[in-house]
Amino acid sequence: MPEISRRNALILGGAGVASVAVGGTGFFLNQGFSSVSSAGTVSGSTFTEPIELRSANGALSVDLESSRQRVSIAGRDVNALSYNGGVPGPTLRVRAGDTLRVSLKNGLADPSNLHVHGLHVSPENKSDNMFVTVAAGDSFDYQYELPADHPPGVYWYHPHLHGFVAEQVFGGLYGAIIVEDPESIPADRERLLVISDISLNSSGNIPAASPMDEMTGREGDLVLVNGQLTPDLVALPGERERWRIINASVSRYLRLRLDGQQLTLLGIDSGRFESPQEIDEIVLAPGNRADLLVTSSLGTSTLRALSYDRGSADGMMMGGGNFRSGEEVALATFSVAGDAVVAQSAIPSQPAQRDLRIAPTTAKRELVFAMGMGGGMGAGMMSPTINGRQFDAERIDTTVQFDSVEEWLLTNTSTLDHPLHLHVWPMQIIEQDGQPVDSIMWQDVVNVPARSTTRVRIAFEDFGGKTVYHCHILDHEDNGMMGIIAAN
Ligand code: C2O
Ligand code: CU
Ligand code: CU
Repeated sequence: MPEISRRNALILGGAGVASVAVGGTGFFLNQGFSSVSSAGTVSGSTFTEPIELRSANGALSVDLESSRQRVSIAGRDVNALSYNGGVPGPTLRVRAGDTLRVSLKNGLADPSNLHVHGLHVSPENKSDNMFVTVAAGDSFDYQYELPADHPPGVYWYHPHLHGFVAEQVFGGLYGAIIVEDPESIPADRERLLVISDISLNSSGNIPAASPMDEMTGREGDLVLVNGQLTPDLVALPGERERWRIINASVSRYLRLRLDGQQLTLLGIDSGRFESPQEIDEIVLAPGNRADLLVTSSLGTSTLRALSYDRGSADGMMMGGGNFRSGEEVALATFSVAGDAVVAQSAIPSQPAQRDLRIAPTTAKRELVFAMGMGGGMGAGMMSPTINGRQFDAERIDTTVQFDSVEEWLLTNTSTLDHPLHLHVWPMQIIEQDGQPVDSIMWQDVVNVPARSTTRVRIAFEDFGGKTVYHCHILDHEDNGMMGIIAAN
């Protein structure tokens, strides 16, 4: 079993060591939601997964229709947003080299579009183009060509129209994309866990976010696994399960534990460790995914999200904020009983990961994440900015040279964590809070803890064009914490 240092254990999943250090400067303001209700919800039902659509002969074609309709969430009939009537939407399972076609029909009352989060595909034309708007009632045909060497792993899709993203994702619009391993990893079964949060009022509607929720990032009071509340999972002792976990929450961080079971992390996002890591817990910022093996032991364990300090709203506004990541939540029950099975064969070693620490860089730049005064938010509120500016669809903020490697210093001057997400090109984390990272870590969402810095390297390869980077607290993105990048 590879030794893993405490520092790396903390860094895994993008969690910062720094959040521990700054923890004392803030406090959580946990106010009750007077308008929210958990009445009528059902927990403890059998674990279910979204329907899965698989590619065949190198292609997968999917019709995806978004709508506001009656759906079952937490065992209750509620009014939410969904793709094809399910929360989460269908799982799309593809292979490297495949063509994925998605015909999106926007059945919402607002404009929308589609983003394939983490896929290494072109950002132009009908591919992962962030500048497409699909008006209410309109359709758009996307076509994504996955390169033959596309990294295997778990990805996801969600709407990405600036100004509408948090509301549409919070409302239920998300689904998984799985890119299969070229050589399969032996496991007794595979499970997908899409974790999200939502709030529901007594009439089964999702209450509108307050200006304060938008500033701090909204968090729902129910935390769902595949749209269910604390579902039951069952296994035999000694089985190896493959868990693909997606944090589809708008703002909630997930510090996950499954005490009593053995957890082996294959990687985060599209990153894959050369030797899988034994872990006790993992932190997923909004947008992050984990590819995990669970080796079961007799007994009943609870998958829990422990409290995570994502900073404080101290001094950022009048009044207080709601920080649900500060509470511990039970997400699922894992019951292991019966006769032990024969253990699976060893995990095949994974291909060596590229290490940009030894690559020559052509440019260094800094992105500063701040909560600035005024801007789009109400009086007494602060607005999220990158390098002092809010998003402008007409402005290219960063121009990089195609086929080059850059080093970015991510500086967070605010009292809240900001998880940076860059489309198309993954980031290698090389330094956190001034300390070098001692393993090869690739992620597409990199958390920058409050009042700290993170250094990454990026290879702008394979695809040129224009796309975006932004904070994956989607309320921050909608309120301007996003920039446009062009690789020419
Ligand atoms: Cu998951 Cu730009 O988003
Ligand atoms: Cu993305
Ligand atoms: Cu943010």
